[in-house]
Amino acid sequence: MEIIHVSAECYPVAKAGGLGDVVGALPKYQQESGCIAKVVMPMYRTKFLMENQWETVHKGYTHLGYWWFNYTVIKESTNKLGFDLYLVDIYGLLDREKIYGYDDDIERFTSFQIAVVDWLASWNHRPDIVHVHDHHAGLIPFMMKYCFQYQHLQNIPTILTIHNAQYQGWMGWDKSHFIPAWDPWKWGMLDWQNNINPLACGIRCAWKVTTVSWSYLDELRVSANGLEALFEYEKGKCVGILNGIDVSVWNSSTDRYIENHYSIKNVDAGKLKNKKLLCDRFDLDINKPLVVFIGRLVGEKGADLLPQAIGDSFYYIGRKMNFLILGSGFPEIEQALENMKSLSNRDFSVYIGYNESLSHLMYAGADYILMPSRVEPCGLNQMYAMRYGTVPMVRNTGGLRDTVIDYGEKGGYGIRFNNAIVGDITQSIWRAVELYQMEEKIREIRQRMMQIDFSWETSVKQYLDIYESLK
Ligand code: ADP
Ligand code: GLC
Repeated sequence: MEIIHVSAECYPVAKAGGLGDVVGALPKYQQESGCIAKVVMPMYRTKFLMENQWETVHKGYTHLGYWWFNYTVIKESTNKLGFDLYLVDIYGLLDREKIYGYDDDIERFTSFQIAVVDWLASWNHRPDIVHVHDHHAGLIPFMMKYCFQYQHLQNIPTILTIHNAQYQGWMGWDKSHFIPAWDPWKWGMLDWQNNINPLACGIRCAWKVTTVSWSYLDELRVSANGLEALFEYEKGKCVGILNGIDVSVWNSSTDRYIENHYSIKNVDAGKLKNKKLLCDRFDLDINKPLVVFIGRLVGEKGADLLPQAIGDSFYYIGRKMNFLILGSGFPEIEQALENMKSLSNRDFSVYIGYNESLSHLMYAGADYILMPSRVEPCGLNQMYAMRYGTVPMVRNTGGLRDTVIDYGEKGGYGIRFNNAIVGDITQSIWRAVELYQMEEKIREIRQRMMQIDFSWETSVKQYLDIYESLK
C-alpha cells in the first residue's frame, strides 16, 4: 500500500501547530506498519532545508491561470525521517521563511496543489491513496477528478483529513481560472456561498473525510464556520479518528530538549527538577503549583480569556499559584499578557514567540496545563502533558472531551469545565490549587496519566482500514 500525504506542514521540516506534528508522525508509523508512506509539502526556506541533503526528482512546467511557472520536486536523500519526504519548490512563491500569513497565500497554496497533481500525473505508476490535509490541499481531489488534463488520476482514492475547519481557504470566483481547465458542469463542487471554498470542495470530492477526534466530528454538524449543512449532508463519508502522539519524540525519559529525564518511577522528583529550571528562569515561586498555557494566542484557543482569568484568580483565590504562558498570535492578547508581567509577584511570566525546546521543558516542569479552547479538533498539548505527568485543565470540547476524564469521575485524571468563560477557568484553577494540596492524590493521578496509551498504533490501523475499504 503506497500512500502519499499532501500537507502544508510536517515536523521537523516546518511546523506551526499540531498539523505539523501529525504529518511528521503518522507516515512514520504507517511505514512501520508495512505501508509505503510519503509526504509532499511546499519548500519553505527552513533550517531543515539548509541542513539536509536533497536530490532533484522532477522538474515541471505548469500554470496558475495565465502565469506559467517552473517547479522542482526535491527529495531528502537519506530518509532520515523514516519516510520519503518531497518538497515542491516554486521560485518566489514558496521559498519563504514563514509557512502562512502572506497576502498571496491563495496563489502560493493553489500553485503548490497544481504542482503536486502535475507531478503525480507524471509518475509511471499510481499510488494507492492520496491523503490530503486541511484546506491547503483541499482542491486536489477536485483536480484529480475534474481537471481534463489530470483525469487519468480519477481512480486513485483520495482522503481528506480535517485538522481544523475554521480555516477554509476561501477565494473569490474571479480566481476560478487559477485551477487548470476543469469541467464547467462541476462548478458546484467548488462553490460554497458564492465563493470557491477549498475545504468544502475537499469534503465533497474526497472519497472519505476524517476528522481528528470523534467529538469534533459531531460538533461540526452544529458549528463548522458555515459548513454545518455540508457536514450533515456528507456525514456518511466522514469518520473521526483520534490523533496519536509520536512517543519517540515525546518521551520524558529520552526527550532531547530536556536535561532532567524521568520516567513513571521517579516522576515527582523528575518533574520538580524541571520545575526548578522554569522557576529560576522565569522568576516564579517553586512552592506554588505551576499552571502553563502553550499555544497560539487566538480566540479559538480561548487565549483572550487568559488575562482576566488570571487576574480574577489572583484576586478571588489569592496568590496561591504561578502562571507561565508560551505563545504568539493576536498582538492585543500578546500585549495584554506582556503588561501583566509588571504585576507579577514571582507568580506570572510570559514568553511571546515560538520555542520548541521551552515547550518541552514546560510539559516536563509544569503541574498543570490549561486549555480553555473554544474549538479543539483534537489537541495534542493535553496528550503530551499527560505523558509527562502534567494534569490537563481543559474545556469539554472536541478532542479534549475525548481524551480527558475529570478526576472527580471514576478512573479520572484531569480537570474539565464546560464553558470557555472566565468564571469556569477561574473555578478550574481553584480546583487545581485544591488538588495540589492532596499530595497522594496528585501522585496517583500522575501515575495513571503516564500509563495511558496515546500512541499512533490504533489510529494507524483505523486509517489503514479506511484505505483498504476504498481499494
Ligand atoms: P494547534 O495545532 O491547533 O495549534 P495542537 O494542540 O494540535 O494545536 O498542537 C499544538 C502544537 O504546537 C504542540 O506541539 C505545541 O507544543 C506546539 N506549540 C504551539 N505553540 C507553541 C509555541 N509558542 N512554542 C512552541 N511550541 C508551540
Ligand atoms: C489542528 C487543531 C488541533 C489538532 C491539530 C492536529 O491544528 O487545531 O486541535 O490537534 O490540528 O490534528
